[in-house]
Amino acid sequence: MQIDPQRIQRLVSLSKSKAYDPYERFDWPDSLALDRLWCDEDLLTTHGTAVHDRLSFEQKAALSKWEAVNFFSLNVHGIKGVMEFVSRCIYEERYDDISEYLHIFIAEENAHMWFFAAFCRRYARTIYPTPAFSTGDVQDRLEADLYMFASTLVFEEFVDFYNHKVGTNPDVADIVREINHQHHLDESRHVSFGREVVKDLYGEILSRDGSNETRERIARTIEGIIRYFISLMYNPQAYIDAGVVEASGFKTASALRNALRTDPARREHHGVWFRRTADFFRRSGLIEDVSFVTQ
Ligand SMILES: [Fe+2]
Ligand SMILES: [Fe+2]
Repeated sequence: MQIDPQRIQRLVSLSKSKAYDPYERFDWPDSLALDRLWCDEDLLTTHGTAVHDRLSFEQKAALSKWEAVNFFSLNVHGIKGVMEFVSRCIYEERYDDISEYLHIFIAEENAHMWFFAAFCRRYARTIYPTPAFSTGDVQDRLEADLYMFASTLVFEEFVDFYNHKVGTNPDVADIVREINHQHHLDESRHVSFGREVVKDLYGEILSRDGSNETRERIARTIEGIIRYFISLMYNPQAYIDAGVVEASGFKTASALRNALRTDPARREHHGVWFRRTADFFRRSGLIEDVSFVTQ
């Protein structure tokens, strides 16, 4: 890879200096009350819509719990996929320069998977299943790797928006704040690493085949990845578990989900959550414009 070795070395040193024991890092209360929200109110997927105004405080608190479970479950499944992929390619010649950092990355993600799963199982007794993102049957190995690193990056930046906000919210329970805060600290390194890898792989693909067809195909796939993660914010099961379907005025959780996902008032929120990552892909030439995020 053409990534500056000093950059990688800096990430390795940073990770080592910020290392912690995940199993001792947090104080886990036996239970978590619903007397307050588990995230900032404007992170709820009802925020900005008419549905939001129909919910009582108790219903918003319940929704904040189950959307936290949704979010943390996305992390658990996302990490499983990333670790599988990274474990497969870690000793390949192409990734020789970043192999050491990939070891650290796997260890950090394993810690994240553990604490997110522990949270869900302890306070909600479940981890939600998550539909896997499919890029279809990608024949070219380099392109398949690009999509894997790109979807990891989109995912990390998406999650980080939530983590950063909740991690600095003085009103949420300590365990909620701490988990979000710790994840935000670790992910800032992953995001900067992921951006380098994505740019490098894209450059190599184009140096081999810079045709419009290839550029177009990659742009469509990146857009598809971003759209996929926007959709994952809205989980019908979270609306059912939070008991908000009836109060929402919709007949079914799926109808509520579809209405929220496409509510014009939500576009601005999608922009706030995803603009930073979409802008990175635009600046790096992988996509041409970012307006689809708020359409
Ligand atoms: Fe993580
Ligand atoms: Fe990460």
